[in-house]
Amino acid sequence: SPSDPDLVARARAAKEKLGEKVFVLGHHYQRDEVIQFADVTGDSFKLARDAAARPGAEYIVFCGVHFMAESADILTGDDQKVVLPDLAAGCSMADMATAEQVAECWDVLTDAGIAERVVPVSYMNSSADIKAFTGKHGGTICTSSNAERALNWAFEQGEQVLFLPDQHLGRNTAVRDLGLSLEDCVLYNPHKPNGGLTAEELRNAKMILWRGHCSVHGRFSLDSVNDVRERVPGVNVLVHPECKHEVVSAADYVGSTEYIIKMLEEAPSGSKWAIGTELNLVQRLANRFAADDKEIVFLDKTVCFCSTMNRIDLPHLVWTLESLAEGKEINRIQVEKETADFAQLALERMLALP
Ligand code: 13P
Ligand code: SF4
Repeated sequence: SPSDPDLVARARAAKEKLGEKVFVLGHHYQRDEVIQFADVTGDSFKLARDAAARPGAEYIVFCGVHFMAESADILTGDDQKVVLPDLAAGCSMADMATAEQVAECWDVLTDAGIAERVVPVSYMNSSADIKAFTGKHGGTICTSSNAERALNWAFEQGEQVLFLPDQHLGRNTAVRDLGLSLEDCVLYNPHKPNGGLTAEELRNAKMILWRGHCSVHGRFSLDSVNDVRERVPGVNVLVHPECKHEVVSAADYVGSTEYIIKMLEEAPSGSKWAIGTELNLVQRLANRFAADDKEIVFLDKTVCFCSTMNRIDLPHLVWTLESLAEGKEINRIQVEKETADFAQLALERMLALP
């Protein structure tokens, strides 16, 4: 959607007034009208790593979703304030694992006699509480760009992994990158007693996958892949690892948003690509590379934008920047100290992965 010129001018003026006091981060799934104001754009890993890149900035305006802003707060100094332009920008996947459910799961693993040999690995897309649980129990955080290294590290620390909350990233990484079999993975359903698993099933599993998923990527199907191959002969299918295992298995390439961008930058002119990830990014890439004669299509036209990523729009960004410029502190994301300390432990294990 074309940006309202008046709002663009207001955002620019407020950002200029704030100067070095503000640092704007933008995830690749953000709208074009927002991404144009980002000082740094990136995937979840890059944004976590770069959150602390401007220690002099009093405000970090995070154009992304709640769990990303929490991670930025945990990884930056106390004098830096993280601001989320719309507090309702959550993530349905992160909401699929609550602190109570995960504590209950750990009791189940303890009763099955395996807790001491299980290492938790939590996807970045989780609340600070889940990251704190992970840090407390000797585990690490991962993103879609380092999940393989995180799992290899975890299997050096213990014999089994509890992967949460995205079953698809967990399964895809275990099977594609670590060479485990589908039978090595069991699905823990937090809505069933004992996760719906017997103690024996839990003991025999290498990967205990939490039953969570992304509501956007979960909608790409094997039919989406088959249909696009028929429609666009010679197409390369490139998908995000939050897609279902059958989709990832049928694709040609799999990786994080940063990987998807790099693949398209390096793609030869004349090549054709079907991309299975969030629509804002796919549209931006299609426009960017149209002049280079790279044909980029959305893997499945029936799949929608991520509704929570889209909550951060230009009006919210303008309101945020203007409020901060007037000295009004709004929408601050601040993780409570004890939670932040344990979560930081888990995040730093990720940042230290080889
Ligand atoms: P990445 O940017 O790390 O690939 O993450 C995708 C995602 O779903 C973020 O919510
Ligand atoms: Fe969450 Fe999926 Fe949206 Fe990412 S794309 S923020 S995982 S719902």
